Amino acid sequence: MIEQYCDQLHEATAELLPSWRVPLEVRSRDRLLFQPHGDMPRWLAAVSGLPDIDARLNALQDRICLMAAEGDVPEEDAISTHLRQLMPWRKGPFDIFGVKIDTEWRSDWKWQRIAPHISSLAGRTVLDVGCGSGYHCWRMWAEGARTVLGIDPTLLYFFQYLCLKRYLPSAPVWYAPVRLEEMPLDSQAFDTVFSMGVLYHRRSPLDHIAELFSALKPGGELILETLVVEGDVTTVLMPADRYAAMRNVFFLPATEMLELWLRRIGFVDVRTVDVCITTVEEQHSTEWMTFQSLSDFLDPADPSRTIEGYPAPCRATLIARRP
Ligand SMILES: C[S@@+](CC[C@H](N)C(=O)[O-])C[C@H]1O[C@@H](n2cnc3c(N)ncnc32)[C@H](O)[C@@H]1O
Repeated sequence: MIEQYCDQLHEATAELLPSWRVPLEVRSRDRLLFQPHGDMPRWLAAVSGLPDIDARLNALQDRICLMAAEGDVPEEDAISTHLRQLMPWRKGPFDIFGVKIDTEWRSDWKWQRIAPHISSLAGRTVLDVGCGSGYHCWRMWAEGARTVLGIDPTLLYFFQYLCLKRYLPSAPVWYAPVRLEEMPLDSQAFDTVFSMGVLYHRRSPLDHIAELFSALKPGGELILETLVVEGDVTTVLMPADRYAAMRNVFFLPATEMLELWLRRIGFVDVRTVDVCITTVEEQHSTEWMTFQSLSDFLDPADPSRTIEGYPAPCRATLIARRP
């Protein structure tokens, strides 16, 4: 299954992504075939064990739904057993042949906040950096994108994506388990690039922004969503160690400083379109993600602070254009 997927990815990227084609394929094969994760046999068995069903995607509601074509009767218990092998499910929600996957995140809420501000995706070639399970990639395709490529190095999420992709083999929605910084610079391949929830994980945020810039065609649109703090053009928070229990959080700028970073890299028409405190309704433990979640990482005496004493998570979405 993996060999076949890598062949298809290689084929699909031939015309669209000439400079990324080889590194995408080589890195994907390397991750998936030559340095496999210890849980991969289980994940692979879970995806392979899903029953063969004629399916179609319905992205009209909050959940990304896979629905059986008429006549097929999905075996919900069996499907649920396989999907549970791929826990924790963090980004969603999904409905796979009637099995409702309530994920840690209401990723649909993020999409609702962002979608009204972006240029139409119709006919566009889209990159979703740090795509998680691929939830937003399916939404982007449903909005009319010509091709969507999600990249994310977390292998479990790749297998979550494969659960849908195996039923939608001809959908131009692709996923490669790579990091953005591993891809060649200056591809100028994408009409729209999303980076949501990634910037604060990067030690070098300006390099990340420069990599996003270089992936865009001239005139292309960036959608950047990240954690921010209150302040002005001189404000950036670097946690001394953990932030909301996360080890890998580095820079949380104020939105004005983030706008400056984008302009310094060369973006124009930079604007902040949304700023929003993350609530414990948007990020919470569920039956499909049973570990601790946001409510455990906020100060019980003052939920406007994290357990480390920093401002509680607040996210901003910025939109900008490569001239
Ligand atoms: C907080 S999640 C965000 C998921 C999704 N974009 C969203 O907004 O709901 C961050 C994701 O970025 C991925 N990630 C971290 N560093 C990355 C990098 N350098 N390149 C691509 N993905 C990265 C992580 O594996 C993780 O799945």
